[in-house]
Amino acid sequence: MTITENPITGEYEGLPTESPLGFPLDWKWLRGAKSEWGFKPTPGPRGLTMLDIAKGSYGVIPDNPPHRSMAPRGADIDPDTPDMGYILNKKSDVWAENVTELYEEAVARQWSATRDIPWSELPDLPNDIEHAMCQVCTTLTEVEMIASDLPAKWMWRINHDFLEAKMFLCTQIMDEARHAEVFRKRALANGGGLLVSRGQSEGLLRTIIEAKTYTQATALLHLLGEGFILDIFRMGELISPSPVEKRMFRMAMQDEARHVAYGTMHIRYAVEQDPDVAEEIHEALDHGEVVLTQFGTNQDFGTALAVLLGGGVEHVETKGFELQADLQRKQFTSYLARCERAGISRLHRTKLPLELLGIDPNTVLADL
Ligand SMILES: [Fe+2]
Ligand SMILES: [Fe+2]
Repeated sequence: MTITENPITGEYEGLPTESPLGFPLDWKWLRGAKSEWGFKPTPGPRGLTMLDIAKGSYGVIPDNPPHRSMAPRGADIDPDTPDMGYILNKKSDVWAENVTELYEEAVARQWSATRDIPWSELPDLPNDIEHAMCQVCTTLTEVEMIASDLPAKWMWRINHDFLEAKMFLCTQIMDEARHAEVFRKRALANGGGLLVSRGQSEGLLRTIIEAKTYTQATALLHLLGEGFILDIFRMGELISPSPVEKRMFRMAMQDEARHVAYGTMHIRYAVEQDPDVAEEIHEALDHGEVVLTQFGTNQDFGTALAVLLGGGVEHVETKGFELQADLQRKQFTSYLARCERAGISRLHRTKLPLELLGIDPNTVLADL
């Protein structure tokens, strides 16, 4: 029988109704008239982005997806598609308005800790500076991969209709693998090695991984933990004894800024959609700030940073501790500002010793 396309309906006529083995064929995919059929996205200067294809109904992210399967959002989905056991089924559970753009940015800015750091240009450094850099890298390589483990713990529980959020978290997981890699490599690359690890870091990491909800976890990880690390990377110019470390911190900073941007915007979206979530986040941060302060008492990391900032052990008292206090002030100020942006004002709730840290709440608000 000849197969023809009906010029009016666009339907194919004369299609076989049985396979060669005798199974019935319904050709549903050939008839499936999608609402966006015929729409052809135009690639932009960057190529074809996820934003370019998020057009019409394909760009609509449902608040409460009707399915719990991996069926692609926008396809004709069988009503009896299986349940994958997702528990994060509300858009406000995971979404952030900037997440698709952040994914594209992440993909465009991937780098290699093997290739993109000029390892062979590492200069011989004074013994104290090399030790300090190795200690900072020991602690950093210890804490980096919590930011892989945490998204990984939640990702398979996230409804597949929030695909762009899951894809972004995949990039974060890869980014953190690279951070763990680059700091481990730096610890070993110049003849030093991995130095001391103590319990304070682990307390913070455990609090993050054990958070009860994804949004609490995000607040602890992105807003608090990664935000603090981001400010350290921002100080990379001052911390680095050579251009090699400067490049390392600069590259890691770009990645870290994306993770913090996602977390900030996710919390904001979650609170806007359901103001009751705010209290849940506050409770997580009440506890998180305490463990972060304990992490801050990690003297190995603190003194090593002070030595790098001061430019040697002999300048630690005259210069290093002061610059380290500046860094701390910056970290807490930008954390509080980030909370404001996320719609979770901590200024009147935090138990952080703002006065002791030299932080004026009005400055935080002025910086927004
Ligand atoms: Fe990181
Ligand atoms: Fe990160």
